[in-house]
Parts: sequence; C-alpha cells; structure tokens
Amino acid sequence: LSVDASPQNAQVIPGNMFGIFFEEINHAGAGGLWAELVSNRGFEAGGSNTPSNIDPWLIIGDESNIIVATDRSSCFASNPIALQMEVLCEASGTNACPSGGVGIYNPGYWGMNIERTKVYRATMYIRSSESVELTVSLTSSDGLQNLASHTITGDKEDFVEWTKVEFDLASSGRNTNARLQLTTTKSGIIWFDQVSLMPSDTYMGHGFRKDLASMLANLKPRFLKFPGGNYVMGNYLVNAFRWSETVGPWEERPGHFNDAWAYWTDDGLGFFEFLQLSEDLGACPLWVVNDGASLNEEVPSATIAAFVKDVVNGIEFARGDPQTAWGSVRAAMGHPEPFPLFYVSIGNQECSKHYYKDNYVKFYSAIKASYPDIKVISSCDTSAISPVSPADLYDVHVYTSSGDMFSKSRMFETTARNGPKAVVSEYAVTGNDAGRGTLIAALAEAAFLIGLERNSDVVEMASCAPLFVNDNDRRWSPDAIVFNSWQHYGCPNYWMLHFFKDSSGAALHPSTIQLSNYDQLVTSAITWNSSQDGNTYLKIKVVNFGSKAVNLNISVTGLQTDIQTFGSIKTVLTSGWLRDENSFQQPDKVVPAASPITNAGEQMGVVLDSYSLTSFDLLL
Ligand code: AHR
Repeated sequence: LSVDASPQNAQVIPGNMFGIFFEEINHAGAGGLWAELVSNRGFEAGGSNTPSNIDPWLIIGDESNIIVATDRSSCFASNPIALQMEVLCEASGTNACPSGGVGIYNPGYWGMNIERTKVYRATMYIRSSESVELTVSLTSSDGLQNLASHTITGDKEDFVEWTKVEFDLASSGRNTNARLQLTTTKSGIIWFDQVSLMPSDTYMGHGFRKDLASMLANLKPRFLKFPGGNYVMGNYLVNAFRWSETVGPWEERPGHFNDAWAYWTDDGLGFFEFLQLSEDLGACPLWVVNDGASLNEEVPSATIAAFVKDVVNGIEFARGDPQTAWGSVRAAMGHPEPFPLFYVSIGNQECSKHYYKDNYVKFYSAIKASYPDIKVISSCDTSAISPVSPADLYDVHVYTSSGDMFSKSRMFETTARNGPKAVVSEYAVTGNDAGRGTLIAALAEAAFLIGLERNSDVVEMASCAPLFVNDNDRRWSPDAIVFNSWQHYGCPNYWMLHFFKDSSGAALHPSTIQLSNYDQLVTSAITWNSSQDGNTYLKIKVVNFGSKAVNLNISVTGLQTDIQTFGSIKTVLTSGWLRDENSFQQPDKVVPAASPITNAGEQMGVVLDSYSLTSFDLLL
C-alpha cells in the first residue's frame, strides 16, 4: 500500500462531509431521543372524533367506580380533545374506592425509565367544578412500588377554569418499566389535558434523552439531516410533517399520525427542536421539506404555490430576525439568534413523480429569491439538472446488499467532475446479510464511505439511514443505534462511523494498493489535526472484505515530518463471524479495539484481519 502524503498532491475533503440523518421512524424521536415520558400526552392520538381511543392510557379501577371519556373541551383550540374522568366511589363508607384510589395511568413508551434520586418535571392541565384531591405518582408497572408522589388539592373554585399545574417528582427508587398514575378517592368529575413528564437532566437542557444524544455527539457529525425520509411525505399529505404545526408552546401543538411508520407523535420533537439539536451537536441543519408530495399523492404545479410559501416561511422561522413574522415565533421560543440553516432538500426521493421537476423549479426560485446563500438539493440526479432546472447539490439514496455496497465504493469514479455534487443522504446495507446490524454490513458500508472520501471532489455529504430504533417498535432493520426505555447500544455500523469522524475537512492523500489475485481491499489516507491533543495524524484506513488475513507493506512518501512510534495507534473493527451483531446482552461484541503500533514508520509491515476495518493513526 503506497501513500503519497505530500501536501501538494492532497485534496481537501468537504468540511461537512460526514453527518447524520434523523428520521422519525421506529419511535426514534417520540419514545426515543425526545425525552418526554408520557405517550399521547394530549389524548389526541385517537383522532379528533369522540369518543376516541386514548391508548396507551388505561384506568385504575373498573366501570363500577370510574368512567373515562373524551370530549372536545380542551382550552387548546389546535388540539381540542380532553379526557373526562368521572369517579363514582368515595373515600369511605359503603361506596368506598379501592385502597389507593381509582384513576388513570400512562405506561409511557413501553415503560418509563425512572431512576433513583432523579427529578422529573410533571405538567398537566386540570379542570373541575368540584374540589380536587388528586395523587400524582410514579409507580412500578403493577402500581405496587411507589417511587414518587405529589398531591394536588383545590377548593371548588380553584379549577373551574382550565389550570396549569406544575411540580417536580423526585424518585426514591429505580424502575425501568414504570408508569405515571393520576388517582383519587373523591367522587366527582375532573378533566385532564396535556399531561407531561420530563426528566430534569436532558442533553444540554433541551429535552433530548442524554444517553442517546451523547451517542450522536460522539460521532462529531458535521450536519444533521431531518426529519425524514418518508416521514416528511407521509402516505397521505394529511399526515405529512407540517413544520409550522410543530413549533410554539408544546401544549398547543396538535401532534400528528406518522402514517409512513404507523404511530402517533405529539410533535414535542418539532422543527425548532431539530434546529436546536443541530446547534447542540455542532452540526449544520439540513432540512428536507415537504414539496407537496406524499407517497400516494402529488400537488400539481398550478396549486403548489402555498407549499412553496410554507417552505420560505419555514426558512424565515429558522433564519429570520426576531422582527420578522416567523423569526419572532422562534425568538419567543427562546432563540432570538438565527439558526444557520444553509441546506434545504426539496422532497424525499420523488424525482420520478409527475410534477416533481416543475414544482422543484418553483421551490428553487422562491428560496433563492429570499435566501441566495441556501444550497438547494434536488431529488433528481445530474441528468435532470440544467440551467432551467438548477441545483446546488443532488440527493442520492443507496440501499443494497453488502456485496453490492462494497462494489459501490467505486460508484462515483466515473461521475463527471463538473456540475453539482452529490449528497448521499441515505445509504445502508439491507436484506439478509444486514440482519439487525451485522459486521459484514458495517464493513461494506465502510468500503462505500472510503469510496466517497476518495471521490469527495464530487460528493459533498453522506449520512447513513436509519439512525435509531426503539427495540419495541422495529419498523426497519438495520439501524445504527438500538435502545429501549433505559438501555442502548451501537450496531457495528455505528462504531464503523467513528473511523470517519475526523475526515470532514481533512486532507485526502492518494493511496494505491498493489496486490495480485485479491480484490477485497479498499483504502484511503488522510491527514487531520486533532483539536483534542493539538497533534497532526496520518490516518490510513483499510477494509478487508475477504476471508483471508493479508500481510501488507505500507510505504508512506512525501511527509514533511517523521512518524512518531509512541502515540501511533491501530484500531480494528472485526469479530469472530461476519454476521456477528451487538445486542442488549452483548453490546460490545463488535466494537473497535485499539492498540499501539510498535513498528510505526514510513515503511511498515502490518497484518489485516479477515473481514475487518483497520485504521492506522500515525502521529506526525
Ligand atoms: O430510511 C428508511 C426509508 O428509506 C426512508 O424513509 C426513505 O427515504 C427510504 O426509502
């Protein structure tokens, strides 16, 4: 393996090359990255007709002592459903309530993770024309273990109007499958709406589940593409992601049915929160807009103007100063400074739809007229991009088998070197050999990404898909990060991405492999500066996609300084079997292993394991 590390032959990899793509799929956000513990907090998930299904809320008691129903009496016009709870029993006497009272409970998203000594912020809206004695508690799933409780009391007049009640619950114990209970032993009628429970220690205080957001931060992503995927489109437009209905006070957001992936979301994780997450991760936001198409419908060009205006308004929300109509909404949410939104993708992979090309031009022109610095991304490739249908970048999605993904490391070698660059915003090995995230899938994706590095003169950005799966609602496999209410682990491809986190903005050097009768190696070489230790490293990555271990002589030329043996590290991602996966039981089965390179130098002999990704980080 020859590496020409001379600065004059280097090429700079784009600064935003490696990022992440978050889609609301597999309960990635609702019941995942968004830390809200109550599912269906506004009782809207059953639809706006009443009576409606309040799932997953259930009652404590039976129909002899409690009746619950939904009506449209909420104080929030945009989400009118409220829950009416009628208690038929009394504190004592012949009609006494069961001990502990009757009421309702919410199990969260397959159980709430309640941790000892941790504080949870409870918020709810209450209305009643009678005096109130309500116990709000965190308990085990059978209600027997009490972890925390708070009593709300009020006279007859206190809750005649809808009243917001907020308090903290400090847990005295731990339960990963807990629930939130609202119980009473007092007969009468009481209404509830917008019942929320948030952990107090979210990532940067912005509502993101800490362990999951940290997994993202550790990848050092340079951009965050959101919110989908098919989620942006919906199966039908009535269920598409509408950014303006996901901003402002959380209580006033209507929520919507994510029909692409078949679950309700309260939209706590809305447009603002995606922009905030980008900022918290130090990543550029990349917004995929609904362009008037769902999976089954399309708005014709004659009536697309309202969708175009909606997108321009969305950009004003992100970037407009606080005096603008939508900028003021953002400022009122606590972020007067604009968010640096410079990438907007027009739709999700619908180039072949009838109206896409005509509609696209209208979006492009309107965005550029107000925001000429925004890079507009087309769903069509370069064959459809022209002066009459211009684009700054074009979107590419690659889903294929591991063998094909490996060979796609050469995919961009024949691409014309002029014209708009590619954003490979969705790629993944799928099918049998991908399992739920196998080593072989990760290695094939690594080879593909090395190919993108090598062709980063025509590729601007890349992100894998999907990012997250809640193990209780697996709609798509494989995914990079698996979690439940309290655990998480990275799949081999999550760990593979760590090999690329220093590449964005680094210098790419020519590297060539000469090996007869073995075409299973793919390699790249970069130099990069570590902000952590201030040092410069030459990083050589090699994927060995074959079943043979390989003895390789590495020869580096053109360096301005010597390679330091002490401080040079080899990192290997491999495992005993090419279909090995991680799991909650064995989260570290396939993870990178680092060791010193004792023979680091301009000439060095190394051994590559079969089915492995190896990085040689040589300290300069
Ligand atoms: O990543 C899962 C899905 O695959 C996305 O929602 C869609 O864009 C693609 O087809």
